[in-house]
Amino acid sequence: MQKICVVPGDGVGSEVIDSTLNILECLDLPLSFERTVVGIESFEKNGAYLTDDALSLASDCDAILFGALTTPNDRNYVSPLLLLRWNLELFANVRPAKCLNPEFCLSPLDLVIIRENSEGIYGGMERELDDGKIVTERIVSEAGCQRIIDFAFKYAISNSRKKVSCVHKANVLRASDGMFKKLFYGSAVNYAFYNKIKSDDCLVDAAAMYLCKEPDIFDMIVTLNLYGDILSDEAAGLIGGLGFAPSANIGEEHALFEPIHGSAPDIANKDVANPTGSILSAAMMLEYLDMTNKAAVIWDSVKAVYSDKNKWTKDIGGNCGTEEFTWHLRNEINQQAANR
Ligand code: NAI
Ligand code: MG
Repeated sequence: MQKICVVPGDGVGSEVIDSTLNILECLDLPLSFERTVVGIESFEKNGAYLTDDALSLASDCDAILFGALTTPNDRNYVSPLLLLRWNLELFANVRPAKCLNPEFCLSPLDLVIIRENSEGIYGGMERELDDGKIVTERIVSEAGCQRIIDFAFKYAISNSRKKVSCVHKANVLRASDGMFKKLFYGSAVNYAFYNKIKSDDCLVDAAAMYLCKEPDIFDMIVTLNLYGDILSDEAAGLIGGLGFAPSANIGEEHALFEPIHGSAPDIANKDVANPTGSILSAAMMLEYLDMTNKAAVIWDSVKAVYSDKNKWTKDIGGNCGTEEFTWHLRNEINQQAANR
């Protein structure tokens, strides 16, 4: 029995996690689930956004299933998600953007973005100078770049992808992004030679444009933290919206799975949140835990549900709320399981 740490969070986070647990439950998996509270609710109860107990539960489990958290209006706030990424060394953020039905996608996209997850400008190193200017520091290390580049090419090999594009801003950030690009091509030679994986590179501003205009020029993108955060939301826009985008945060010893969206206070507690990103994140978790057949049941069933317009979620113009969509998906999974 493998143990999953469940962090529902708040806003739509807890709604999409309820739906996801409902789906996992009908797959009859050798998993046990342990919930923990982090974020604003934890701060109100315990005086800490991420308690030591929550962190040690997360690090003791085989994987973490995470919903979403609202950022409070508190200057001292450090996101528990970032703390989990740093403490558990979850350096690779895998963000697939896969179109489930061309009828509601702007592009029949099948893209994977690999985002460096432990460095960049997300370290919270901001300070105010005497003249009132704010300085934000950004970390880019050779080891961090090489680690994410190797991860991307290894992912490409094991998932039969064709091309990896390095996205950067090396024309301006010549030392940091310049090093990232140089290391990328240093590795690309070997991977291309032995595994026939193509490689190219693109400036991040141009990449944002190409993603809108000609998204199929990309197969996989490897990029630094901030660029990956932004481009993955843009990619989600091409496949129906943020409700469709799953992700995995992977380290050497730990892994956390979460939809890429936030707590969406504008739609919280209305039964309209799309749980697909969270459910597909759980499918990625099953792949990580070597339950690939069960993961495939989820992917195939989600696709089957979206082939019927009567079962579409509200974010793409359908009529189904979170609970009704989950009910349809459960039925589809039971049917597929019976036929296999
Ligand atoms: P958001 O991702 O929560 O929402 C952006 C837009 O996408 C909204 O229009 C929302 O309604 C829609 N959306 C998001 N999830 C959806 C779903 N499952 N189904 C249908 N539509 C969905 O980003 P926003 O509004 O900028 O941030 C809200 C809060 O979440 C903030 O406090 C922010 O700091 C936090 N946040 C947390 C993240 C996390 O916990 N991983 C990531 C991003 C933001
Ligand atoms: Mg984001």
